[in-house]
Amino acid sequence: MKVLVIGTGAREHAIVKALTLDPFVDAVVAAPGNPGMDAIALCRDLPQGLLDGAGIAALAAELGVDLVVIGPEAPLVAGVADTVRARGIACFGPSAEAARLEGSKAFAKEVMASAGVPTGLAHVCTTVEEVASALDAFGVPYVVKDDGLAAGKGVVVTDNRAQALAHAVQCLDKPNGRIVVEEFLDGPEVSLFCISDGTTVVPLAPAQDFKRLGDDDEGPNTGGMGAYSPLDWAPASLVQEVVDRVAQPTVDEMRHRGTPFAGVLYVGLALTSRGLRVIEFNARFGDPETQVVLARLATPLGGLLYAAAVGKLDDIAPLHWHKEHAVTVVVAAKGYPGSPRTGDVIDGLAEIGDDAYVLQAGTAVGKDGSIVSAGGRVLSVVATGADLAEARDRAYRAVDRIRLKGSRHRTDIALAAQRGEISVHG
Ligand code: AMP
Ligand code: GLY
Repeated sequence: MKVLVIGTGAREHAIVKALTLDPFVDAVVAAPGNPGMDAIALCRDLPQGLLDGAGIAALAAELGVDLVVIGPEAPLVAGVADTVRARGIACFGPSAEAARLEGSKAFAKEVMASAGVPTGLAHVCTTVEEVASALDAFGVPYVVKDDGLAAGKGVVVTDNRAQALAHAVQCLDKPNGRIVVEEFLDGPEVSLFCISDGTTVVPLAPAQDFKRLGDDDEGPNTGGMGAYSPLDWAPASLVQEVVDRVAQPTVDEMRHRGTPFAGVLYVGLALTSRGLRVIEFNARFGDPETQVVLARLATPLGGLLYAAAVGKLDDIAPLHWHKEHAVTVVVAAKGYPGSPRTGDVIDGLAEIGDDAYVLQAGTAVGKDGSIVSAGGRVLSVVATGADLAEARDRAYRAVDRIRLKGSRHRTDIALAAQRGEISVHG
């Protein structure tokens, strides 16, 4: 099987790496990819960018691939998967209609309501006055979300009413700006990726992401600063409960609406004192959770994604997992998540031993052939170990070898879990 992977991030680097390890996959091409992916697969340009469905379909046809895997949300929401499928090429990733589960938080809320999926109470607002009264109805902490795609940066959680309103004003200023004001959900967060072909649901292993920029969850929200898997503190019944109460009803609802969801439904959850609640749906793999989930997946990835793309998920044998724990730490550029500084040389990549590896995200090849920073999240350092302590130790030793001027990373990824400090209410 020959596979084309669309995207530029560490998530796509992790997917490409997993596909190259699949004995049934004989060629992997990434577009546009990055220097990290270029080292293990062929990279091709996308001159018109990630939203160019016709260009991506043409490239897939030219390469004669059997499967296209679309990594990021923007091309999915723009309908790139539809265009690829219209050329008769199998594609892992939902249609534009189904990707609205991520593209519009208001739409996701409506589907959850129809499907009886537990989620936070929310008001959809189109004016500042509506936002203000919704904030006062819920009280602190305030949760204000941009309705549309915002690369993980559209959500503000704050006790400061003026700050909550200011974020709302900024989002409402955009064309067709809409705001979702939501009740605050307490309790630990979990990310669970549920693969679906539109009918059958196959869950992967749960992971935890660290969304805030700084240690102890201080600072602004980011795309994600690190992750680990599995979650030893989570109830053993969690995965099945999420499938039964969230993923399967959502997939069924989307199919009944005539817009089946095939791809990966990323369920972001809070385990609250009143039970599990969906915080968000995404229509693609999470970044950086994918880096740790795929580090542990023993079942070949290509066959799984192909089965989902062609409606044959039912035929897949139960998934196999490595016993190890996996940790990933994101190395971000100075200025991230605001305006990241780019063009700094990254040193030390060759000094990382065998017990960790680096997945690249915002990187480029500099004039002298060195690897330089080219985005906000620059690298994802991944390690596995017999327990979280070993995986963390290996990951952080590797992070310490990397030299990137002004870079930052969190030092507490998976620390609370390692110390047994995470507990689920009730
Ligand atoms: P989202 O883009 O919806 O995933 O939100 C990003 C992050 O904001 C989540 O991972 C949570 O940490 C936080 N968040 C979102 N919604 C809520 C909520 N209702 N209550 C508490 N925290 C939330
Ligand atoms: N890690 C969060 C996301 O991918 O949206």
